[in-house]
Amino acid sequence: SVVVLAYSGGLDTSCILQWLIEEGYDVIAYMANIGQEEDFEAAQKKAQKIGAKKVVIADLRREFVTDFIWPAVGSGLIYESRYLLGTSLARPCIAKGLVAIARSENAQFISHGATGKGNDQVRLELACYALFPGIKMLAPWRLPKFTKRFQGRQDLLKYAVEHGIPVPVTPKAPWSMDANIMHISYESGILEDPAEIAPSNLYQMTLDPAQAPEQPCYLQIFFKKGVPTQVVQIDTGNTVEDPLELYQLLNNLAGKHGVGRIDIVENRFIGLKSRGVYETPAGTVLHSAHLDLEAFCLDREVLRIKSYLRDRLADYVYNGFWFSPECNYVRKCLQNAQDNVTGWVKVKLFKGSVFSIARSSPQSVYNQDLVSMDKHGDFQPEDATGFIRTHAIRLQEFYRKNTNDD
Ligand code: ARG
Ligand code: SIN
Repeated sequence: SVVVLAYSGGLDTSCILQWLIEEGYDVIAYMANIGQEEDFEAAQKKAQKIGAKKVVIADLRREFVTDFIWPAVGSGLIYESRYLLGTSLARPCIAKGLVAIARSENAQFISHGATGKGNDQVRLELACYALFPGIKMLAPWRLPKFTKRFQGRQDLLKYAVEHGIPVPVTPKAPWSMDANIMHISYESGILEDPAEIAPSNLYQMTLDPAQAPEQPCYLQIFFKKGVPTQVVQIDTGNTVEDPLELYQLLNNLAGKHGVGRIDIVENRFIGLKSRGVYETPAGTVLHSAHLDLEAFCLDREVLRIKSYLRDRLADYVYNGFWFSPECNYVRKCLQNAQDNVTGWVKVKLFKGSVFSIARSSPQSVYNQDLVSMDKHGDFQPEDATGFIRTHAIRLQEFYRKNTNDD
């Protein structure tokens, strides 16, 4: 039978590839390019050498930005108030690619190298089942037959050497990494002790804010219905509109100014707490700019209910339910709220921070005449007297009931 393996080119999935072949499967190695730094050609050769029947490299970067990151920006998606979900958003994108190949190649199985303690196994598998109900999922790290043979890295290295699989020449970093165009996440290894400070040489997308330029960077970011459509570097006039280029430019500039690092403990879906370090440069800038424009454009009550729905959506996405009725429903609701989120925000990047410093929108309900301290506009100040008195009724009664003097 045929299995499509989510292949990274690394030690784990190379051994899994070899092992699946030994188990009698025809293996198609599937590599998704979602913006990680990777020598895809070398990885392809490696998979072919191990014995993959076919190697597919799919450039999903554009789709990842427009179909996964943009909706996340528009809904203000953030998990447990801090994590912008860079890995969580990538998994359904990869799963979609895996399923397309599984269907076109008549594969019965999809396999991956995610461990049994994590979120990624849940996300990949739920997404594959949702898009291809008849598919069977093969997770070697949960199969006794596999885990008896491979306790950990030493066993994998030994197995690789035995089978002529090239093993990494550089010593492995003492943590695990997941990279894509949106972020790099670092977990496990020496990071497992939350009391230990992450080493400064871990970060790859962002400079240490202390080392960032003394001169701030000023940007004008345009949104149309909640989606970023243009970025202008104010000092140079350099303008980009293409989603992929726009995202890469923001990654570079924000990275250079040390924007987008977090170090957190989060709740995994399966119930464990885990410590993670993340750098999400462009994502952090866009999240912040969008938040600013939204506060400017949206009706207050819509903003309130939106923040509730956003938290639900963040849980759904984190937990692996991107392709689900609840996600579809909430996404549509949130999309609806974006109809008026059109305009621009000027931001300043400086030493690890992003500040919104000006904004403008043709759609905003902001009324300068009405709010101005310098003129009455259409507002009758006497009306506020009744507004305050009516609100005071409850407070006065409460005082009278609960105190003896009056
Ligand atoms: N904790 C993050 C999440 O669940 C990052 C997971 C990183 N995945 C990985 N295979 N290293 O989204
Ligand atoms: C893994 O367990 O494969 C990585 C971490 C995660 O999925 O949460």
